[in-house]
Amino acid sequence: MTTKQLGPNGPLVSAVGIGTWSWGDRIFWDYGDQYGEAEVADAFQAAIQAGITLFDTAEIYGWGESERLVGKFHRDGQPSVCLATKYGPVPWRLSEEAVIQAIQDSLNRLQVDVIDLYQVHWPFTFLMSYETLFRALGKAVHKGLIKTVGVSNYSVKQMQKAHALLADQGVPLAVNQVRYSLITRQVESQGLIAEAQALNVTILAYSPLAQGLLTGKYTPEQLPTGARKADQRFKPDGLRKLAPVTNLLRQFAEVHGKTMAQVALNWLIAQEGVIPIPGAKTAQQATENAGALGWSLTPEEVTALEEASRPWL
Ligand SMILES: NC(=O)c1ccc[n+]([C@@H]2O[C@H](COP(=O)([O-])OP(=O)(O)OC[C@H]3O[C@@H](n4cnc5c(N)ncnc54)[C@H](OP(=O)(O)O)[C@@H]3O)[C@@H](O)[C@H]2O)c1
Repeated sequence: MTTKQLGPNGPLVSAVGIGTWSWGDRIFWDYGDQYGEAEVADAFQAAIQAGITLFDTAEIYGWGESERLVGKFHRDGQPSVCLATKYGPVPWRLSEEAVIQAIQDSLNRLQVDVIDLYQVHWPFTFLMSYETLFRALGKAVHKGLIKTVGVSNYSVKQMQKAHALLADQGVPLAVNQVRYSLITRQVESQGLIAEAQALNVTILAYSPLAQGLLTGKYTPEQLPTGARKADQRFKPDGLRKLAPVTNLLRQFAEVHGKTMAQVALNWLIAQEGVIPIPGAKTAQQATENAGALGWSLTPEEVTALEEASRPWL
């Protein structure tokens, strides 16, 4: 299994993780309707079987349900995996104590003694300063409540500031989790990927399949149900615009005997310091997404996909 390290001294994890936003979430995803606990339990086991060792959740997903499910599956199976969760900087959290309390609550839901990777979910912290927030996170590392610290949706400047505030306490910034796929490449044009490499901050690429768009299963004739219906990219015109990228994904999938999803993920794996964390609702999706590992696109194919997706830079 190909592995990558989180930051300069974080855990070694599989070069593809699994995102668990859809586990328990009924606001965006249709948990409890099209699929439920049995399906996501199978997805967890299938991911473990396939060698996946990184699972990404957040306290806000399903209002804690995603963390509870991950904790339950993890406890039942006892596998050695890296559990990553996220702190929500909501306006009523004002003090270091509030950060520590949020960590305690996540520890309880995940049923672990220490969180492997604790990420700040978004950059706005309302009345709490970055100084207070990152001092609390540094203390949480020194107390043994969390092993590594990450951020999410941070710009170059915000990432540099978080990196510096943690460095003052001898704690590295391990990851910045950002939206990154063949059709969401703004993090490249903004210089975020280059700066993350310079700082030795690993990029966790979220929505790496563009929420299903890059799997090829959605077409003007076959649209998704649920919240994605409102997204212009999932409307017939939006889907047609993707053809330059999806045609290449289909072509390379045939050449390698892989699926379009596996090719889209393999392109991200080929980027230095990047780990995609595709969501999976079923065992079939988890196994397929893990199958993005163990083979490689040729350098020419990586370049061809880069060129075809330049309009999304
Ligand atoms: N930090 C943040 O702000 C943030 C934001 C968003 C996401 N995330 C994280 O990133 C993870 C992944 O992002 P995401 O869920 O937004 O998007 P994604 O991974 O691009 O897409 C996931 C969806 O695509 C479909 N899918 C997945 N694998 C497939 C396969 N092999 N074949 C066909 N369809 C497949 C499934 O939906 P259908 O079957 O219904 O099509 C699945 O729910 C989340 O779970 C979460 O952990 C973080």
